Amino acid sequence: MADPLAGRTALVTGAGRGIGTAIARALDAAGARVALVARTEHELRAVASGLAHDPVVVAADLGTADGPDAAARAVLSAFGGRLDVLVNNAGTLLRKDSHTVTVEELDLLWQTNVRSALLLTAAVLPAMVARRSGSIISISSISGLRGAPRRSIYAATKAALDGMTRALAMEYGPQGIRANSVAPGVVETAMWNEHLAKPGVADAVLDVIPTRRLSTPEEVADVVVFLASDASRAITGEVIAADGGIRSTVNLWPKV
Ligand SMILES: NC(=O)c1ccc[n+]([C@@H]2O[C@H](COP(=O)([O-])OP(=O)(O)OC[C@H]3O[C@@H](n4cnc5c(N)ncnc54)[C@H](OP(=O)(O)O)[C@@H]3O)[C@@H](O)[C@H]2O)c1
Repeated sequence: MADPLAGRTALVTGAGRGIGTAIARALDAAGARVALVARTEHELRAVASGLAHDPVVVAADLGTADGPDAAARAVLSAFGGRLDVLVNNAGTLLRKDSHTVTVEELDLLWQTNVRSALLLTAAVLPAMVARRSGSIISISSISGLRGAPRRSIYAATKAALDGMTRALAMEYGPQGIRANSVAPGVVETAMWNEHLAKPGVADAVLDVIPTRRLSTPEEVADVVVFLASDASRAITGEVIAADGGIRSTVNLWPKV
């Protein structure tokens, strides 16, 4: 369908780089008016300058206690009180031996990856409930679904997002609001590029991906557009892996 999101509004967190930028562009290309939120305003403005549907830029630290509510109020005010789509994408990774993790690191990951999404969702829900319509999409991770080493705290935050998704689906479904997660696998972004350059890492990673390639941010964004649109109207409470098949497989090729 051409412009499946024409006339709709969307808020994308972490829209200044990586997957969030691809999501903002894809929602805009699908016809939505997009609000871009992150801390680095010049990155948001650079992305916004390439969008067609009168984008809104709101610089905010979503990891603070009052940042999400302030950002939600600014976006809702710019959109005349209407928000159709919320994409909780902002997040940070911690790849570290789990017995060395500090309280400060744990708090930072919780605040950035989970508390921010819970508070932002809470702040926009009344506007969605008032119109009995909305799609809440949270970018979790394959790390929340499959055990991978050196990321127990990160995995815990991503599994928490999926739990939030399921609870929201049940609680707000009767009021016309859907909630889903998209769980990327290994995506070509800053989060991975430096790590993949280390000897042996790329081969080990590609070995567990059935498609034998990394995903692109645009491929994750396509799933988000689907979940934002009416094409997914029967889908809520789901975690959709956009991961080249990692979630569903085990690589026995060298042994069979
Ligand atoms: N890349 C992957 O392979 C992969 C795989 C699975 C899941 N994911 C998930 O996908 C999402 C995006 O990942 P990415 O690779 O695109 O990450 P990225 O390139 O590091 O971008 C992260 C974005 O989040 C924003 N952000 C971080 N902390 C913030 C805060 N306190 N307040 C507001 N915004 C904040 C950043 O902007 P500022 O720094 O300017 O605030 C940036 O725009 C994350 O949730 C990540 O966990 C990624």
